[in-house]
Amino acid sequence: MRLRLPGPTEVPEDIANIGSKPMINHRGAEMAELMEKLSDDLKICFGTNNEVHILTSSGTGGLEAAVVNHISANDEVLVVTIGVFGNRFLQLVEMVGAKPTVLKYDFGQAADVNDVEDALNANPNIRFLVMTHNETSTGTTNYQIEQIAKVAKAKGCLTIVDAVSSLTATPVEVDSWGLDVVVSGSQKGWMMAPGLAFISLSEEAWDVQKTCKTPRFYFDLLKSRESLQKGQTPWTPAVSLFYQLELSLDKLKSEGMDNVIARHATCAEKARNGIKDLGFELLAQKGYESNSVTAIKAPEGLDVSALLKTASEEFDTAFAGGQGSLGGKIFRFGHLGFVTEEDIANGLDVLTKSLESIGFRN
Ligand SMILES: Cc1ncc(COP(=O)(O)O)c(C=O)c1O
Repeated sequence: MRLRLPGPTEVPEDIANIGSKPMINHRGAEMAELMEKLSDDLKICFGTNNEVHILTSSGTGGLEAAVVNHISANDEVLVVTIGVFGNRFLQLVEMVGAKPTVLKYDFGQAADVNDVEDALNANPNIRFLVMTHNETSTGTTNYQIEQIAKVAKAKGCLTIVDAVSSLTATPVEVDSWGLDVVVSGSQKGWMMAPGLAFISLSEEAWDVQKTCKTPRFYFDLLKSRESLQKGQTPWTPAVSLFYQLELSLDKLKSEGMDNVIARHATCAEKARNGIKDLGFELLAQKGYESNSVTAIKAPEGLDVSALLKTASEEFDTAFAGGQGSLGGKIFRFGHLGFVTEEDIANGLDVLTKSLESIGFRN
């Protein structure tokens, strides 16, 4: 099955196979060496000198760690949401009993720095900015994140960012943009299996953790920091996925991060053009379309589930539907990770044939 999903994405054969190497002692020297290499290489991808920690969990675990280690009950938090994953971040903020101010945009719209500034001016007690970089549910990217983070920093906020589906597909410059906490997930742009989350943390973030009152155990990052100094993780790590990550990072480094991002931009543009040529409209606001996934509006009369079923059963290709209230209203074409222009051409061909097969004409 070809995966034109926004995650899990396709895994190159050598990365998949390396996961079957024999186990090593996760408290031994070999693991310590691997941990050091992984954490150095992740820093390159995140554009940071901050520590990057690897958690054995999916992306949501990384988001939970980002929230429970920093935000306490009654803290004032600005949550910017442009879709399903922004709403999930909001749920986590609510879970710890914080007081969120919510800046919510319609599906397909991206956040505007002026709105963020107004929201922060309206409530000088806000100490945290929480937002999604690439909103996978709507194929929309908050490209103003750098300006937004700078405004938040100037107001004394700690910035917590979900970059689960943007990292490696879109520029993310943690240090020069001043992002304090940034999370990604292995099954997205990293060309490997699901099961790991990566989280970078600034010194300000570590300071905030010391006074954060929210209970945490498995995701206690101070424990993770202590363990990293010994080249370990506090709990048993998914060692097989660490092997996969090592090879994935080697590949990303040898291609060069700028080239990786340029490849994603080219693939995304090709996907958008092909979709428009088929007569469809995109959900994302012009200029804010995602490099990782294209969300396509389903016109009147298009049965999205029939389209996805046909693509899967007749053409062995998986596309994604809409999530939550977007169900039946959009479908999504994923183009991140191990993806080439040829894959995009193939995906467009499958879409064309599947539409024909279900008898839909635009
Ligand atoms: C932007 C974004 N945030 C968070 C998540 C959640 O990640 P996971 O499903 O790995 O828990 C996803 C996964 O689709 C995502 O795209």
